[in-house]
Order: sequence, then structure tokens, then C-alpha cells
Amino acid sequence: MVLPPEKQQKHPDNLNAIWYNRVIYKEQKKALDAFLRQLDLPIPLTKYAVDRTAKTGQILAYLDAVHAQLRQFSSRRRVVCIEGAAGNPLLSFLVYYYYTALQGRPLAIHCIDTNAILMDKARRRAQALQFDHLHFHTGDIADFHIAGRVDMVYALHACGTATDKALHLGLRHHANCIMAVPCCQHSLRRQMRGHPLKQLTKHSIFKEKIAYMVGDALRALLLEMQGYKVDIIEFASSRYTEKNALIRARRSPGNKASGLWQEYVQLRDAFHLAPPLESYLNMEGKVPARCQPLPQVAEATP
Ligand SMILES: C[S@@+](CC[C@H](N)C(=O)[O-])C[C@H]1O[C@@H](n2cnc3c(N)ncnc32)[C@H](O)[C@@H]1O
Repeated sequence: MVLPPEKQQKHPDNLNAIWYNRVIYKEQKKALDAFLRQLDLPIPLTKYAVDRTAKTGQILAYLDAVHAQLRQFSSRRRVVCIEGAAGNPLLSFLVYYYYTALQGRPLAIHCIDTNAILMDKARRRAQALQFDHLHFHTGDIADFHIAGRVDMVYALHACGTATDKALHLGLRHHANCIMAVPCCQHSLRRQMRGHPLKQLTKHSIFKEKIAYMVGDALRALLLEMQGYKVDIIEFASSRYTEKNALIRARRSPGNKASGLWQEYVQLRDAFHLAPPLESYLNMEGKVPARCQPLPQVAEATP
């Protein structure tokens, strides 16, 4: 439904505001708004309102994805989750509220982030809400460990290698379910060299997309090789976030399909990549010697 212009500013759920970011629109907003009205078109909202709506859409969609997994676990015991790179951990507040207050099932969530200010602020908010089993830890995901059973590890837009660290955190804890919506793939994008798709990657938007796809496909293969069933799904509308690919891995011991290492090495070496998750697994001796990476080639493909 398109709202009349005079009501739009009061309704931050109107997503037409994407326009607002355009330079041309910012520079001549008044005149363009007047003309849009003449055309009976709605006027975009402020960027601030759009961003807030997008975050709500993201975390509600992520809650759906979490729910699809958590509903399969026993509701008689306390389910334990970890969120890596939680930032301002709105997602974990929502998940915690949904299960404890609305579903009445026991749940504990541990949120980790390197940002002490955000963790302290979240801890105060949790205390005020009496969310007693919602915990906050300041530090690097790579150094985090808790004793006992972990049911789920999840991450939303953990930047760069933080996504790999979150996936590895799930593997280290033998979590039943590991989920991550990756963020930027800058380092892989820079590494992509001498590969067979140079006609595509000379266009930077395609290069960006291919870096995402190849990087996530390699992560998925590594998780599969560690005994997980993996799929990658679009978890939210791209109106809420362009980074909307969710890697979803469910532990399935004995599901180690043969030939996966070959597939992995083929893809990795075609693009001359050094995926961080592989190096974390390598440090634990979980990568066969025959999969050692090729030396990087000197020439970068555009
Ligand atoms: C883009 S924010 C995402 C925050 C939150 N998940 C969200 O979706 O709003 C990325 C967060 O990752 C955190 N981070 C980056 N590397 C990290 C690491 N190695 N360990 C823990 N947190 C990390 C940053 O401090 C930042 O808060």
C-alpha cells in the first residue's frame, strides 16, 4: 500500500525511501519532492528511518531461521546458543524474548563481541529486562570457549574473517546447528587471481558477487567435510539487506560425503584463494596434507 505523502514521514515501514541515498535527490530534494507530488508519487523517508526498519526486518527474518532449527530441540532442557560478533545484540534480545517470554522455554544465549562498550550496554539492558540467561562477553570469537553442550552458534553480518571465526566456533563446540549471514568478503575479493571467469570479474559488481558466492561455497564445503549438512538460503528480503545469504549447517555425523576435498580444492585453486576457515581447521590438523594450497600467482585478474 502506498501512503499519501503527508503520512509517509510517520510510517518508517515504508521502504520507498531507498531513493533518499541518491546524490541527485539530496541536492535538489525540494524541487524533486514537489514534482513527485505532482505525479502522485510518495515522498521517500529519511535514511535513518529506512535503516532502522531494515534492522527490524533482518532480525525478524533471522528469528524465523533460528526458530526453524530450535523447534526441533527438546523443550525440556535449557537450549544453549552463542552469537558471534553480536555488536548491538538486538537479534539475541529478540530470540531470547521470543523463547523465554512467548514460548516459555528455557534458553541461554552467550553474545560475544570485541566492542566492550556495546557488550556493557547490552548487559545493563539485559539486567533491566531481567533476562538472566542472556550473557555478554567482550573479546575475540577465536578465543571464546564455554564448557558443556552448545546447541546453536549463529552470527549476523560478522565482518570479514569474524564469520569464519563464528563458523569455527560452532565446529569447536560441536554445535548441532551453525548459522551465519556473512558480511564483507574484501580479502577474498582481493585474492581472486588467474581464474577462468575474468570476462565477468572485470565488472566490479560481478566481481563482488562472485567473491561472495565462491567464498560462501567454500565455507559450505568445509562445513560439509566436518560432518554437517549445509544449505545456503536467502533468509530475508533484499529490501532489508543485500547481504542476505544464510549459511545453515546441521550436524549430521557420518554424513562425510567422499570427494568433497577434491571439489573444494578445485574451486579454491581455480580462484587462488586462501580461505580463513581452512587455515583455522589446518591448525587443528583437520585438513589433509594433499589439500595444501597452491602458491599464489603474481598477476591479478581484473
Ligand atoms: C557489522 S557488525 C554486526 C553486528 C550485529 N551482528 C548486527 O547484525 O547488527 C560486526 C561486529 O563484529 C564485531 N567483530 C568483528 N570481528 C570480531 C571478532 N573477531 N570477534 C568478536 N567480534 C568481532 C565488531 O565489533 C562488530 O560489532
